[in-house]
Amino acid sequence: MKIGVIGTGYVGLVTAVGLAELGHTVIGTDKIKAKIDKISLGITPIYEPGLDDLLRANLKKGTLSFDADQHRTIRESDVIFVCVGTPQQEDGSADMSQIEEVSRLIAENLNSYKVIVEKSTVPVKTSSWIKRIITLYKKTPNDFDIASNPEFLREGSAVSDFLHPDRIVIGVESQIARDLLTKIYEEFGDRLLVTDIATAELIKHASNSFLALKISYINLMSNICEKTGADVEQVAVGMGLDPRIGKQFLKAGIGYGGSCFPKDIRALVKIGEDLGVDMTLLKAADRVNDDRIKLFMDKVRKALWIFKEKKIAVLGLAFKPETDDIREAPSIRLIRELLKEGAWLRLYDPKAVDNMKELVPEQSPKVVYCNSPYQAAEEANVLLLLTEWEELVRLDLKKIKDAMANPIIIDGRNCYKPDEVRALGFEYDSIGRQ
Ligand code: UDX
Repeated sequence: MKIGVIGTGYVGLVTAVGLAELGHTVIGTDKIKAKIDKISLGITPIYEPGLDDLLRANLKKGTLSFDADQHRTIRESDVIFVCVGTPQQEDGSADMSQIEEVSRLIAENLNSYKVIVEKSTVPVKTSSWIKRIITLYKKTPNDFDIASNPEFLREGSAVSDFLHPDRIVIGVESQIARDLLTKIYEEFGDRLLVTDIATAELIKHASNSFLALKISYINLMSNICEKTGADVEQVAVGMGLDPRIGKQFLKAGIGYGGSCFPKDIRALVKIGEDLGVDMTLLKAADRVNDDRIKLFMDKVRKALWIFKEKKIAVLGLAFKPETDDIREAPSIRLIRELLKEGAWLRLYDPKAVDNMKELVPEQSPKVVYCNSPYQAAEEANVLLLLTEWEELVRLDLKKIKDAMANPIIIDGRNCYKPDEVRALGFEYDSIGRQ
């Protein structure tokens, strides 16, 4: 069995490499030839821990290859994983044009029976559209099946998530597709959940929206903590000890970002509303998240009073640690707000600087990118911690204090112990605690 993977972004590349690592013969393709050229040489266009090594090892083994010719890749594959983007549109719904384009491409190249697997996050019932497009455009009598196999990878630990999944969801409507996908994931047989396609599609949106809801919930509690003297970290521990709640995803902070949660929750709101379902619950979770930056700006204002020409060290730009991804990162909105107020920024991130430079170019003295957190802290009037990178959690705070003009830290991820930081002589504010 030959597997084709269309799209080599975060999901597609990890899927292609992961499937090859499971022992399958895999061809990856993408409409951007430059990307394929780079990946074929063993260079990943994204930072994802462990991905480079695994890519090179499987290229060397010969079971993994990449081909910029999408037509050929489809013709040579028995199973095709569709991993193209489904970005958010202005009304919150997912833009499905890339899925439609790939469906037509598959129809044109349907030279044998194939199983088309939706891997990208798609609205429930998307499979019916893919089926319709392929049926309309195909030029041969060859048959095909659609299946759904939603992706639950977390950026920063995607390789390990792929190779050690807690569940594999497979949505199918034919025995052949069921057998093929069960075979592909044979190694994880005990963790396989087989459903109909619509259910599998919805499991993905439902899971991500639930996790986003959980984060917004604890963030809401942090607002109450700040006004009452309660400690949100302890509230989270106390809640998490109840196994019905669980301790994960109860970390209060400046809000969730990334390529999934913000877009998926809005897409599900749109899907529900189009179906006439009241989606107030998820809309509120989205609004709580949206307010995080405003509340964080209030903290900065409380520390500085006036922003104009104040030097602000911003540590952590990626939407979470261990990634260079800044899509929907809270840092972007915060940087824009700070610049609007006339502040001068000194920015640092271990991996995401190049991506942020494309969005917010260097412009000394207003925007300066720094090579270390200590350089960013030089002469700063306040330091903002936005991403809990290990390097930033373990900062030499004494050295930071010596570098700063005014030793003030506002910690958006509760990385430090308030007593310890204050004992060093800092003014310190964080989220949902005194
Ligand atoms: C998420 C899902 O976890 C994954 O299953 C899905 O396939 C894709 O979306 P990802 O976006 O990579 O993965 O990151 P995740 O670790 O889930 O974090 C998302 C955001 O939530 C980050 O901005 C993170 O900082 C924030 N977060 C997470 C919190 O603010 N508090 C928490 O307790 C957990």
